[in-house]
Order: sequence, then C-alpha cells, then structure tokens
Amino acid sequence: MPSYAVIGASRGIGLEFVRQLAAKPNTVVFAVVRNASKSTYLQAVAKDAKNIHVVEGDVGDYASLQKAAERVSEVTGGKLDYLIHNAARVEAENLSKGFDDYASIDELDTDFTTSFKVNGLGVIHSISAFLPLLRAGPTKKIVAISTAGADPKTVRASGFAGGPGYAMTKAAGLLATIKWALKLQDEGFVVVAVNPGLVDSSGTSDDPAARALFEEIAETFFKKTGVRLEPETPEQSVAAQLKLIDGLKPSDNGLFLEHTGGEYGL
Ligand SMILES: NC(=O)c1ccc[n+]([C@@H]2O[C@H](COP(=O)([O-])OP(=O)(O)OC[C@H]3O[C@@H](n4cnc5c(N)ncnc54)[C@H](OP(=O)(O)O)[C@@H]3O)[C@@H](O)[C@H]2O)c1
Repeated sequence: MPSYAVIGASRGIGLEFVRQLAAKPNTVVFAVVRNASKSTYLQAVAKDAKNIHVVEGDVGDYASLQKAAERVSEVTGGKLDYLIHNAARVEAENLSKGFDDYASIDELDTDFTTSFKVNGLGVIHSISAFLPLLRAGPTKKIVAISTAGADPKTVRASGFAGGPGYAMTKAAGLLATIKWALKLQDEGFVVVAVNPGLVDSSGTSDDPAARALFEEIAETFFKKTGVRLEPETPEQSVAAQLKLIDGLKPSDNGLFLEHTGGEYGL
C-alpha cells in the first residue's frame, strides 16, 4: 500500500493532494498540518476517509516534525514511500510587498526571516525528519513544491517587483531540494522540485486578499509580456502533478519540473 506524507495539507494545493491521493486505490495518506483543529477544510475531507491520517507538524519547528514522523512510523511500520513538501508562507500581504513597502528595515528583516524559516529551512526540516522512513521504504521519492517565482529569468520577464521575501526564500527552498537530490542520489532516491503553475487556491483561504492577488499577478504579467495567465484550479494542477509524480524516474533526480511535464523553463 503506497504511503504519502503531504506537508502543509490544511488547504489549497496541499489539501487537494490529500483529496486526490486518498481517492486512489490502496493508499495511505498522512496530512501534516500546523494545527489540526483549525484545519477545517481538511477536516471536511478527512472525516469520511479511512485512509487519511491527520498529523500535527510545523515545518519551522523541527521537533514537531520529528514527532509527526514518529506518528507516521507507528502506522506504516517505520516506512514512507512519498514525501510531498508543499508547506510555504504564502500570504497575500507579504507577497505583494516590495522592498520599500515596509515601515522600517527591521520590519523587513523580521518578515523575510519568518519566510526563510518556513520556505527555506522548512524544506530541509521536512526531508531530514522523514528521511529515516523514506530510506526504509522501497520507493524513495521526494517532491518539493516550488514556484516559477523562484526562477531569475521568470522574475525578470514577469515585471513583478513585489514579494521579494517570498521569491528569495522559495529560491532557497529550491536550492535546498537540489542539494538533497545530489546528497541522496547514490541511495536510489528521486528528489525533484515542481512548479505547480499559477493556481487559484483562494477557495480554501480565509484571506479576502488572496483572490485579488492572483488577479494582480496575472495582470502585471499580461502588461509586461502580452501573455494572459489563466490560473488553474487546485484540482487541475494537482491532477497534472500526480501524473508527473507517478512517472518520476531516476534521471529526473535534481530537476525543477513543470507540473505538466518536462523541466521548468520559460
Ligand atoms: N497557488 C499558486 O499559484 C502557487 C504558484 C507557485 C507555487 N505555489 C506553491 O504551492 C504551495 C501551496 O500553495 P497554495 O497556493 O496552496 O498556498 P496556501 O493556500 O497559502 O497554503 C499554504 C499551506 O502551507 C501551510 N503552512 C504554512 N506555514 C506552515 C508551517 N510553518 N508548517 C506547516 N505548514 C505550513 C498552510 O497551513 P496553515 O493553514 O496552517 O497556514 C497551508 O496549508 C506552496 O509551496 C507555494 O509556494 C503556489
């Protein structure tokens, strides 16, 4: 029975991974969230599913992830097939803020450092905590959800100067993923980063600014490039990502992949 841990599964793309994975035959899915009782969208999905286990873990708090891995181990007998690291600090307010939109440099430092802990170190924490279980399993697949916004060429082409704290820290997470791929290559792991595309995850967000932000990004990109970005639904993006994940092969190790297939590139 293939086992999957989805880190950052309370809402948005992570929640949709849980929903689609749990609907596959014979899977067991661990939905790792910071706060189970506040994860109401996940609870609605998990309440009738026997193969979804909700486990608490915060990617900024390594001890909590180690506890989460212990909980997973108790169910699976010490193994895990797939780790999908999706968690990220994606807040409309800090995504649109530019370098000079902060009240002070101290405020900027605090915001960027908070994002780095989740978006950069979080990738390292998740992989480190679950590595013993992944090593013990036969599949050895690790997927970290990245973003086109971490790619310098894309950032230049987009014309979008906002959200440097998100972009810089997701870039750190992307490089962490590639470093893990190199480190684990000789053990038969396939470790990849995946760009999910532009996905309107505002349907499971309680932040009213979330939807407006997607429109702002798409509009800025259109003005700069003449290309109209149509956000996908979480269902569409995750269906494509799961097809990609099902087909991962050793030669993919260390790549930054587009959700629809192939290496990410403008
Ligand atoms: N949506 C897009 O267009 C898009 C495009 C490119 C890349 N991505 C990437 O796709 C992923 C998901 O994006 P999304 O749009 O679904 O975002 P989202 O709706 O804001 O969801 C973010 C998820 O991360 C969790 N999270 C945040 N901090 C965490 C922490 N410290 N520990 C554990 N979980 C934490 C959140 O949990 P809480 O409920 O506890 O806050 C939530 O489940 C992210 O990695 C993002 O960078 C998204």
